[in-house]
Amino acid sequence: MSIFAVRGLIFHTTDDPAANLRAWQCLEDGILVIEDGKIQQLGPAAELLQQLDSSIPLLEYSNCLICPGFVDCHIHYAQTRIIGSPASGLIEWLERHTFPEELKFEDDEYAATVAAEFFHELLRNGTTSAQVYPTVHVGSANQFFRQAERLGLRVTGGKVLMDRNAIPGLLDGDQKGIDETEALIQAWHGKDRLSYSITLRFAGTSTEQQMQACGNLIKKHPDLLFHTHLSETLNEIEWTLGLFPECADYLGVYEFYGMVTDHSVFAHCIHLSDSECDRMATAGASAVLCPTSNLFLGSGLVQPSRLRDHGIQLCVGTDVGGGTSFSMLRTMQELFKVSQLSGDSLNAYDLFYLATLGGARALRQDRYIGSFESKKEADFVVLDAGDCRLLQRKFKQSNSVEDLLFSFVILGDASNVRETWSLGRRVYQRTRWFNIRRS
Ligand code: GUN
Ligand code: ZN
Repeated sequence: MSIFAVRGLIFHTTDDPAANLRAWQCLEDGILVIEDGKIQQLGPAAELLQQLDSSIPLLEYSNCLICPGFVDCHIHYAQTRIIGSPASGLIEWLERHTFPEELKFEDDEYAATVAAEFFHELLRNGTTSAQVYPTVHVGSANQFFRQAERLGLRVTGGKVLMDRNAIPGLLDGDQKGIDETEALIQAWHGKDRLSYSITLRFAGTSTEQQMQACGNLIKKHPDLLFHTHLSETLNEIEWTLGLFPECADYLGVYEFYGMVTDHSVFAHCIHLSDSECDRMATAGASAVLCPTSNLFLGSGLVQPSRLRDHGIQLCVGTDVGGGTSFSMLRTMQELFKVSQLSGDSLNAYDLFYLATLGGARALRQDRYIGSFESKKEADFVVLDAGDCRLLQRKFKQSNSVEDLLFSFVILGDASNVRETWSLGRRVYQRTRWFNIRRS
């Protein structure tokens, strides 16, 4: 049995603050007790110090904020190296930068190298869980899962299904992609902390046959997530409806093939009609908000409150490499700005919820992660002011936790991540990189 405790300013959300204003807990001087990688207890230091055995190691983090590890619900590991590649919009960006880069993942060694870079970036940014796109290549999915397993991370992902409208070398043949997906599910789903997401690039890069076969797979595996892109740009919508003329709208294409369920996670959701929003909410599907990507590619301004008011479960994704940062703090910052433009701005509690427990709920992992509820896995991040003078002053001056959280949202980035912990193990420490091999 291993047991230790961490002490500092501890914050987590316990529910959606938009539905329940007091759905968060903050302990200004708190202690989190971690036993065998799980949260055992959370309470005020003044109380717990009386109770805890003095032999239990206590790590003190003064002037630090300890919160659950971030959950990035939509990111492409194979696009790590093309982050910040300019294009006039999504389709040009895919053709000019993304497809040529993804082609390189035919080579397992290249995939392994980029996967290592990717995980380093995740942990350096305090992200402990993610839903990830590799490429169409089986080897790229294997590299992703293998390295996540070695690091002991709770992640989900799946080989990308696509069989038209991309370059040769990035296309599944007939049944091949489906068979490969089945084999990968058997190999990885439920192994350790890993899950499989049935992953379709988007409707426009799959034939009707592949859509049908993917729909059958979803039906066969109702406990798996289904992950794809939806309604990101106006051009894409028009193009997609041209490819599936029997469908009245974009969501209708996924509905037609049985792909809209309470395990469906749709990235972007910028241009949805009211009807599409209502249908997504009724199905229990989730929308991943990806503001840095939407601004970078000029895709549009998502309206978080509108989607939420329709009853859609929301979460946040960086969407690297369309997204411009691995940092969920930076992503929250852009989401705040986009919400300001929508006329109904999110507050700091909403933003931290979306980046932690909201993400865990969308990925159906909230039994394990997303908050500091007792028995959950101890995935957490220690944030501090780093070398940011403005944040250093905020720590001294701010008279509410909301103020402090909001300052991290607006001013924070990877430099504010002091440590990242996964299942009670330190997997990142600023200036040091721990490549933990699990026994
Ligand atoms: N739509 C289809 N593929 C992609 C992708 O790789 N990135 C983004 N942002 N949108 C997509
Ligand atoms: Zn994406």
